[in-house]
Amino acid sequence: MNKAFWKEAVVYQIYPRSFKDSNGDGVGDLRGIISKLDYLQDLGVNVVWLSPVYQSPNDDNGYDISHYQAIMDEFGTIADWEEMLAEMHKRDIKLIMDLVVNHSSDEHDWFVKSRQSKDNNPYRDYYIWRPGKDDREPNNWVSVFSGSAWEWDEQSGEYFLHVFSKKQPDLNWDNPKLRQEIYDMMTWWLDKGIDGFRMDVINFISKVPELPDAGTDRYAWGGEYFMNGPRIHEYLQEMNREVLSKYDVMTVGEMPGVTADEAKLYTGKDRKELQMVFQFEHMDIGSGTGGKWDLAPWTLGQLRGILHKWQVGLANDGWNSLYLNNHDQPRMVSRFGDDGEYRSVSAKMLATLLHTLKGTPYIYQGEEIGMTNVKFDSIDRYKDIETLNMYRDATTQQGKSNEQVMESIYVKGRDNARTPMQWDATDNGGFTTGTPWIETNPNYSTINAEQAVQDPQSIYAYYKELIALRKRHEVMVYGDYELYLEDHDSIYSYTRKLGEEIWLVILNFFKEPVTFDLPTQLSHDTRELIISNYEVDSAESIASVNLRPYEARVYRLHGVQ
Ligand code: NOJ
Repeated sequence: MNKAFWKEAVVYQIYPRSFKDSNGDGVGDLRGIISKLDYLQDLGVNVVWLSPVYQSPNDDNGYDISHYQAIMDEFGTIADWEEMLAEMHKRDIKLIMDLVVNHSSDEHDWFVKSRQSKDNNPYRDYYIWRPGKDDREPNNWVSVFSGSAWEWDEQSGEYFLHVFSKKQPDLNWDNPKLRQEIYDMMTWWLDKGIDGFRMDVINFISKVPELPDAGTDRYAWGGEYFMNGPRIHEYLQEMNREVLSKYDVMTVGEMPGVTADEAKLYTGKDRKELQMVFQFEHMDIGSGTGGKWDLAPWTLGQLRGILHKWQVGLANDGWNSLYLNNHDQPRMVSRFGDDGEYRSVSAKMLATLLHTLKGTPYIYQGEEIGMTNVKFDSIDRYKDIETLNMYRDATTQQGKSNEQVMESIYVKGRDNARTPMQWDATDNGGFTTGTPWIETNPNYSTINAEQAVQDPQSIYAYYKELIALRKRHEVMVYGDYELYLEDHDSIYSYTRKLGEEIWLVILNFFKEPVTFDLPTQLSHDTRELIISNYEVDSAESIASVNLRPYEARVYRLHGVQ
């Protein structure tokens, strides 16, 4: 058993723009974060992953960085950041920063210099430049944020590649000088005392050098030529050798399109690359063949099948990250639970899943109070570049109706997760005294942290208990996972085992009551209820249990035959 702090940790993601505003300008900031650290300490989390706080023109809310070693003016100063780090460490909370190095902002000094001229320019090769082909873009790749992935640069007479927005030009990792600049920058932050990095789309950094056309499939976009590209492992091993191996830190790589087999290569203990990846397979359910915005029903079989595959795939080597939402995804309770009548029990059921599977749980701000998706009645009230570009193209080029497109935004749009954190029932949920950069979800009067902290039955109280249990019981961290009832339509059930310790998890994923029949292999002498989202008589036999809507129970079993 290889123990590590990052395996035992529970991570809390802060999206700073929407977390807490301290100065009334409507934008969250570092002093706002400092003011809420006691709240995080009370919750019990050990690591904060902070989405980007670097200087940025905010085309993509900070994921377009114009200076990697400066703090965004709206968020505060480097002195504020240093105080924030010290205050976190005082509370035994580690800090991992977002590392966004697949691309920079087009306002980064490197790009400003890179576009100045084609020849005799030491910065030209920091980015991916190509001449056009037959008076068109160099290839047919499509940007994640709609339209061509190439932008014509008038000044230097070539196209540059941008897998995301045209203000996010892709960096050229094949250039060793660029790589060294990034390693130096990472070292600078690590020397300031941070505890690791979350790495933005890090499996996109190595492109097939010929940049071939994507297939002819209507939804082909080019990803096959840069996701897990030809030199990705070489670059990550170099980064590890040059930087990460010198520090005891935590790393998690965001990796769209990664499979469990590939994840072993990224996270295997002898591979010297990363410690965890964020995989996306379970985020892709609920979509039709048309991609993310093409809504389709999902089944428990799909969700469980994917999570199970990853549990088994990384059982002995590598390590899972466990998440059901973040700043790019809709709210977990709206997507996989019920954000109406059963909001509280379903959020707790999903939390039970996240904290009892094997891996490191990641909580996204507001998840711990059961924040929900939002429905703004007009596209003008949305802010996210992905959403706005998609809306424009779908309604103009693809002839879709406003209603149809808004429906998919309600279900999948990233702004669902970006409405301000709901702190209390005062104006704007206590997020700001000014006008928030994006409107608050109107349900803040009933769903807010102040209420949740006071209520012993709240979702917040349940998270707190799960996190505390994890600190006391190694079986939650290191125990082996085994699946039961693998074909059940509405129950996900598994055990975790460590030595003599056997825990049984039973989750009803839907609102319809359902009977759980104990698998014969789990017959036992006595049992003890560890946690549940309902009142349960802990002495009750569990040979056959009538589970209530979204009921979750975790038992310790004694004397399993
Ligand atoms: C993934 C980030 O999580 C997302 O917010 C961003 O838009 C893209 N990468 C581009 O940086």
